[in-house]
Amino acid sequence: MSPATEPDVYGILRRHVSPGLALGYKMVGHGAYEVAANGATVRLSDGRELIDFGSYAVTLLGHRCGPVVDAVAAQLAAMPTGTRALANPTVAVFIEELLSRCGAELERVWLGSDGADAVEVALKLARRGTGRPRILAVEGAFHGKTLGALSVTDSTSFRAGLDGVLGPVTHLRRDDAGAVAREVRAGDVAALIVEPVQGEAGVRPLDAGVVRQWGADARAAAAFLISDEIQAGLRRCGPFSMAVDAGWAPDAVLFGKALGGGVLPLSAAVGTSDFFAPLVGDPTWHTATFGGHPLSCAAGRASLPVIDRLAERADELGARFGRELRDLARGYPALVREVRGQGLLWGVDFARPAMAGSMLVELADAGLLVSPCLSSRRTIRLLPPMVTTPAELERAMEAFRTALAATGRIAAEEPAADETAADEPVAGGPA
Ligand SMILES: Cc1ncc(COP(=O)(O)O)c(C=O)c1O
Repeated sequence: MSPATEPDVYGILRRHVSPGLALGYKMVGHGAYEVAANGATVRLSDGRELIDFGSYAVTLLGHRCGPVVDAVAAQLAAMPTGTRALANPTVAVFIEELLSRCGAELERVWLGSDGADAVEVALKLARRGTGRPRILAVEGAFHGKTLGALSVTDSTSFRAGLDGVLGPVTHLRRDDAGAVAREVRAGDVAALIVEPVQGEAGVRPLDAGVVRQWGADARAAAAFLISDEIQAGLRRCGPFSMAVDAGWAPDAVLFGKALGGGVLPLSAAVGTSDFFAPLVGDPTWHTATFGGHPLSCAAGRASLPVIDRLAERADELGARFGRELRDLARGYPALVREVRGQGLLWGVDFARPAMAGSMLVELADAGLLVSPCLSSRRTIRLLPPMVTTPAELERAMEAFRTALAATGRIAAEEPAADETAADEPVAGGPA
């Protein structure tokens, strides 16, 4: 694009969306913006190429995954939008293929676009099915920002000014194995919702034994167990569904983000027939105009076999990535408090939030995009795509080394500011 035709991207965002968002983008891109991408590499308007280990967990298959793009193009050529008065085979076949990976118990589905869509329908189903109002969630939980999803999201900042209109929810301490047994005694609990790995809280895997106990106690009280795997599922952290694989017998599992193959928005709530009873009886009870869109389902259908095919490679990549991250972090004990993660979802926890902020910018300067954690300002999140090549991984590690060194120099020069509310959310960010 010539300078005359180039849009004033930052000016538009500053004037019409948010000055803070425009500034954040400008700092990360050094005034350039994204124009193209392939696999784990993104090209900027100034010609630079960055490795993308961010994108808020959407690009598990990288950018422009070939079979997904082809399937979307074919659907686009045939019939992009469904009538919703007639059955659509692309949607039906996608549903069957998704459920075939979720175990025999989970045989019903509702399709949406965003993760929060899947959370909303799950909370409604649990309340309607049990006739009880209260939901149990976990400290630090992130389930989205629409009113229902926000009610189970544990963030003072995102909830500020809205507490009065959010439904009744109790957040449990992560290590309190007896919490569900205690809470269900009141007889008003519809469901427990958990993230097997809490991504936005700073990449915190929950203790499997504690969740197993919680699930058993919920079941004994006829309350449902909902596993939110919008970020960690689809083999990002190993299994297709972490809850099914761990034998927690979830009543519902939620998927999103990478489900559309990194090409189109797609989310799903899958569950037992018992959990889905209100929707089986009346499918109009919860609908969305674009839920189960044929283009998205074409993308989802094409992405599932690619995920299967790359899963083993992803396990090896994740193990190597985690090892190398830990090795690098060991050289900076004054900066890095902890490296946590599993598979292709890693969090690096810094001593101070300013260090994590500095790392986001220094990493981009050095050629690597990562995501912040929306509910933990000390932690940066790294989400390598399954398709990351050895050369891209090497470039990413080199960028990490460079950014750590730069952040170490900055931290040594600047006195520690008073950084309270370290676990409050970062500004901006789409998720
Ligand atoms: C575990 C989890 N649940 C739900 C959501 C909400 O998804 P969305 O932003 O697509 O609505 C997110 C987003 O980060 C998430 O990580």
